[in-house]
This record gives sequence, C-alpha cells and structure tokens, in this order.
Amino acid sequence: MRDLVAQTRLHTSDLVAPLFVREGISAPHPIVSLPGVVQHSIDSLVREAAELRDVGIRGLILFGVPASKDEVGSGAFNPQGIAQVALAKVRAEVGDEMVIVADLCIDEYTSHGHCGIVDGRGLVDNDKTLEVYCKIAVAQANAGAHMVAPSGMMDGQVGAIRAALDGAGHSDVAIMAYSAKYSSALYGPFREAVDVHITEGGNRRGYQQDWRNRGEALREVHEDIAQGADIVMIKPALAYLDVISAVRRSVNVPVAAYHVSGEYSMIKAAAQNGWIDHDATAMEHLTAIKRAGADIILTYFARWFAESVNE
Ligand code: PBG
Repeated sequence: MRDLVAQTRLHTSDLVAPLFVREGISAPHPIVSLPGVVQHSIDSLVREAAELRDVGIRGLILFGVPASKDEVGSGAFNPQGIAQVALAKVRAEVGDEMVIVADLCIDEYTSHGHCGIVDGRGLVDNDKTLEVYCKIAVAQANAGAHMVAPSGMMDGQVGAIRAALDGAGHSDVAIMAYSAKYSSALYGPFREAVDVHITEGGNRRGYQQDWRNRGEALREVHEDIAQGADIVMIKPALAYLDVISAVRRSVNVPVAAYHVSGEYSMIKAAAQNGWIDHDATAMEHLTAIKRAGADIILTYFARWFAESVNE
C-alpha cells in the first residue's frame, strides 16, 4: 500500500551520469576522494557509455582532463582537445541512444584554475570569457555533443552560446544551463577528479552564487531561460532543496539538479566507516531531490541506481 500511494518515484531515466576522461592514459585512474568513480581513458570511457546505455541511463555529462593547461584554457576548444576527441568516440558508439552532454567551462584547462579568463589585476573578465565559451560550444557540437552545459556562471553565457551555436549551423544542439550554481564547499572531490587548483587561495565567489541567497537564483534562472536555456540546473542539490522547489514552481522548462561530488563522497565515507547504510541513504537523498522538484538528477550514483533498483 505504501508503494501504491507513494508520491515520488525515481527512475533510471531521470538520471545523468557525470564521466571524466583524461588525456594520455591507457587505463582508468581511480579518484581517491570519489570512491567508485574514475578518470577514464578514451577506451574505458566508450565502454562505460555503452554499459550505461545498456542499463537504461539516458544521459551522460562529460568532463575532460587535459595533459597540459594554459592561461586561456585552449584545450577546451581545440578540435583535438581531449573532450572533443572523446565526444566523437562516444557519439560513434551510442549515437542518439543517449543524450551526450558536454560540460562547457575552462577551469579544467586553465593554469590558474578559474572558470574564466583572468585579467592583469587577477580578476575574471566576464566578456572575454564569453568569446572563449562560444568557441568551446562550437567545438563540442562539431564533435558530436547533443547538448552543452555551460558551468562557468558568466553573465550572458547562455545567450552568447546560443547565438554561436546557431551561427555555426547547430540550432539543434540544446543548452542545459548551470543557472543557479552556488559557491559551495561540496565541490572538493571534483577538483581532485579534474586536477584543478585555484591559484593562491583563490575562490569562485566572484561568479558563483552566495549560499545565503535564494532570490538571485531565481533571477539567474529567468535570465537563462530568456537567453535560450532549454533546461535549467541548480547545484549542489541537497542543501538547496528550497531553491529547487522555488525554481520548479516558477518556470515551465525542465529543471535539473546536480548531486555533486561532496554529496556523493560523504555517503561513501560514512558508509565505509559503517556509520550509515549506503543504499538506504543514497536512495533517500536522490528521492528527496526529485520530491523537491527536479526532473533530472546528475549524480555519480547513476550506474549504482540503474543496477540495484528493480523498477
Ligand atoms: C566547473 C564545475 C565544477 C563542478 C562541475 N563543473 C566545480 C567548480 O565549480 O569548482 C562540480 C561538480 C561536482 O562537485 O561534482 N567547471
């Protein structure tokens, strides 16, 4: 009877799996702070994508880890850059059976670790960064991405990317905007996953949102929709259920939430110590994110959920 009257049902098809691909390796590298998640080689990435498809996952989001970094993050838009090479291989394997999303940012590719171009004063130059984002979007679409996901929180990024994609003949490539991305401590393990160190104790408070605020999240979401976002995202998820709920009630596009690295690792670490029940906690957390209003959940638990849940 509990199942019959349950108001929230989580499905494998709600989930998007984040995947990492690292340039120049021939076997996967474990990520210590993200147990069970690896930096893939191209070959292991393609295999993982095929296996995710086979268990019913409908989407993946790809992050590239380049062998070398520079001031402007040129590896992010180079057609031979790791993400582009990997996107093409994954697209060749899974075709249109999964939605292939390309995370669109430069922090993995810049020597200073910021999500934007840094000016002479050490500050991120919003509008110069947009020019780079446009080049990345076109490179990712050319490589085979179905959707790009700008995660750098620059003002005007969705409109600029939409225009660049349309201008390059990619009007069918969608945009999932990281619209309300908070300056969170929960991204710690991700930064190990992509080898990012923000220089000299830097932080992202200049462009990511203050977690004391909800109003500006709504403003960012509406801005992104006006600029052409097809899906809006809130990130992280669990500490922001109020934001997910408020956004869900105020927009009519699909809402995604990113259950981020720190949220995943806290469950893994506590479960390894025997302090909590891994499966029960993961299920409770993911279901709460859906109950709050997320239509789509990006989560490192995607494969575990697909394999362990009998829908
Ligand atoms: C930035 C980006 C970050 C994440 C996704 N895209 C990190 C950041 O803003 O520092 C975090 C994802 C996670 O923690 O799982 N390109």
